[in-house]
Amino acid sequence: MRKAISSLSLLLAACAAKAPPDVQNNPDGGDGVDAPANVGMTVSGKVMDYFTAAPLDNTTVASDGLDPAVTTTSATDGAYSLNIATGSKLFFLTSRTSYRATRSAAITVADVALTQDIYAMSAADVRRQYTSLGKAPTAGTAFVAADLVKQNATPIVGIPLANVTLVDANNQPVPGVVGPYFFGAVGDIDPALTTATAYGTPPRSRVAFLDVPPGTFTISVTFPNMAGNTQILTLFTAAADGANIVVTGNGGAGSAQPPLDPKFSTDIYPRLQKAASGGSGCANCHTAGGPGAVLKYDDPADLVLTNMKAITGVLDLVTPANSLLLKKPLYELPPAVQDHPNATFLDINDPDYKLILLWIKNGAKP
Ligand code: HEC
Repeated sequence: MRKAISSLSLLLAACAAKAPPDVQNNPDGGDGVDAPANVGMTVSGKVMDYFTAAPLDNTTVASDGLDPAVTTTSATDGAYSLNIATGSKLFFLTSRTSYRATRSAAITVADVALTQDIYAMSAADVRRQYTSLGKAPTAGTAFVAADLVKQNATPIVGIPLANVTLVDANNQPVPGVVGPYFFGAVGDIDPALTTATAYGTPPRSRVAFLDVPPGTFTISVTFPNMAGNTQILTLFTAAADGANIVVTGNGGAGSAQPPLDPKFSTDIYPRLQKAASGGSGCANCHTAGGPGAVLKYDDPADLVLTNMKAITGVLDLVTPANSLLLKKPLYELPPAVQDHPNATFLDINDPDYKLILLWIKNGAKP
């Protein structure tokens, strides 16, 4: 995944020109009180062909993970631009004539404008991957290509096919799936290749699974490191006749050891603050005059905690995972619809999700 940080001036101009729907609908919009800064970030780049990197015009790009969803169509040169809430994790879905509906890897929008190219796979290119195996795509299944990268974004090479598996929620192989196959130097799958090999510029190491049925599955990749083996698990959701681009190690978990008995003031409160203050961006919206003003996170810590406890459901000490503090910012797997403007936790393995869950389990201590 490529990320670039654009200049601060571009970022500020973008904020002034375009506000996310929640801000536009906010009654504060007309009363002279400025909308809170940095609620939305510009995410822009090109829509390109996955196999040839040619720019793709007239391609619909829609978000999955935002409520309401945002959507746009790429320009003649493939360019697109969207405004996405700070601190979001989301996916992009592309659709275009003769192309498979292609679902991106997870995208993380922090507190700076993001350059993010989006790829789509043509039906013909996908079909060619099957042809090289003497097969045709099975109707109603997906083609899944994964970039094998470590958490530090370098390609994983030198591992055998057996180190890459696709499993369901019960850790069982998925019936009907064909593969994995590594990609070879020409950029297509190479059925003869038995070891992950990097190719192209920048170097990438790719693997594919064919005939993946609709559903949510996990790709597991295991590679040796100095201490032994590292296993990276990456969730993705396949749709009938679609294509998926997966990036392993994407937005990798931090290695810092979480506190054993987290406290609100020192461990949780800082995570709820504005992205500019090093938090996950909750207070970008959850602030006076912001779209999430129902629950302000930038008041003093003791007041924030008192207010959270006063609203039924925000903290559920009996069933901690049901707490709205965890559920609202958690990405909802399709076909469920998002119940919050954005997702900050992609799944329950997110380090902040785990930290907050432990804090509630331990009694939500101040
Ligand atoms: C893009 C703006 C935005 C961001 C960022 C955001 N929220 Fe929200 N949040 C809202 C809005 C708007 C609502 C009210 C509508 C709803 O519930 O979806 C809300 C509702 C909530 C609620 C329910 C409050 C209630 O009284 O029902 C919780 C809890 C919550 N958010 C937690 C969080 C947490 C935790 C984060 C950061 C990880 C976060 N939000 C980030 C906009 C945001």
